[in-house]
Amino acid sequence: MTKGNFPVDKLKGIETPFYYYDMDLLKRTLKIVKEETKKYGFVQHYAVKANANRRILELIASEGFGADCVSGNEVKAAVNAGFPASKIVFAGVGKTDKEINLALDLNIFCFNVESLPELEVINELASKKGKLAQVALRINPNVDAHTHEYITTGLNENKFGFAMAHLDAVIEKLKSLKAIKLIGIHFHIGSQIEEAETFEPLCERVNELQVYFEEKEIKLEHINLGGGLGIDYENPDAHPVSDFAGYFALFNKSLKLRDGQIAHFELGRSIVAQCGALVTRTTYVKHGENKVFVIVDAGMTDLIRPALYQAYHKIENISSNLTVKKYDVVGPICESSDVFAKDYELNETQRGDILVLRSAGAYGEIMASQYNCRELPKPYYSDKI
Ligand code: LLP
Repeated sequence: MTKGNFPVDKLKGIETPFYYYDMDLLKRTLKIVKEETKKYGFVQHYAVKANANRRILELIASEGFGADCVSGNEVKAAVNAGFPASKIVFAGVGKTDKEINLALDLNIFCFNVESLPELEVINELASKKGKLAQVALRINPNVDAHTHEYITTGLNENKFGFAMAHLDAVIEKLKSLKAIKLIGIHFHIGSQIEEAETFEPLCERVNELQVYFEEKEIKLEHINLGGGLGIDYENPDAHPVSDFAGYFALFNKSLKLRDGQIAHFELGRSIVAQCGALVTRTTYVKHGENKVFVIVDAGMTDLIRPALYQAYHKIENISSNLTVKKYDVVGPICESSDVFAKDYELNETQRGDILVLRSAGAYGEIMASQYNCRELPKPYYSDKI
């Protein structure tokens, strides 16, 4: 039996909770992203933070994508999965000496640098190795992404990137940093951005900054616009999973790229979110004073997004076609925030039913923890069960 794209009988035999990845959907999504990116000569670096699962990384690497990393271990994971170091960008406000040295040894493509002290340390470590480190300045464009405050990154109050007001001083400083080669600028305004038009003010800011750098006689070869394209959590079966065509068309229309300049992107969520589901079982149906609780064997330790950002993940009972009832779907963790959904309509469920939390391929498995001494959820793949 299958329900939607879920092979229910096969899933039934697996110990829950676990992540299930639809590899065919991932392949189809990668194909679209690749086509839409290449249409304009743009370059794509998959944001490893969204999902660093080995098989998923390998598939994305094999399709020719680069990788956007935010820690030394992400850089290692990317290289081990087959991403060439020459296609790796490395962002993050707190890169340690160890991480910088690793990236220098691997000869990554570019450090997306977020502060003056970081620039000085990269210079020092690179010159000790006799290397020239390629860097892009991550600039905080003070553009509102109109998304959840925890995943907004491009406002002055956020910790990310250089303030525009400090650029003069940074450019002055760069003149004395002989082991640094400035190759571009980098931005990322936030995540789960649903309207392509939200990126319009970013493009305008980039266009202004291009003029600024030209006035300083600095040539920028690379403009990195970050990631942020959202998906429809209400409609996990939509295809394509996101409006990639509209997203890249907007940048193509609004960015005034100079001759020879290359625009880079760092999509994460939109590439992997819809191919993943968290599969769980109903452990108990518990009648409270005025609510019915479905207690499932997955918790916030397996998928923290609802507890952390009040995020919505569609839940389906793939074991039942019974009439719909209202439940609070909760996990077993000893925290009141361990709730996946409140007053949620689900086909009537009983102990042992399999429920799936959809759109969990991004920021799901990778954000799992072992709180309450829980085991980490294992991944299973549609082509290998
Ligand atoms: N580039 C940079 C510099 C980033 O900080 C991020 C995400 C991305 C690219 C990828 O953005 P995406 O295309 O996935 O929106 N844990 C949160 C999301 C945090 C995103 C952090 N940065 C969540 O579960 O919603």
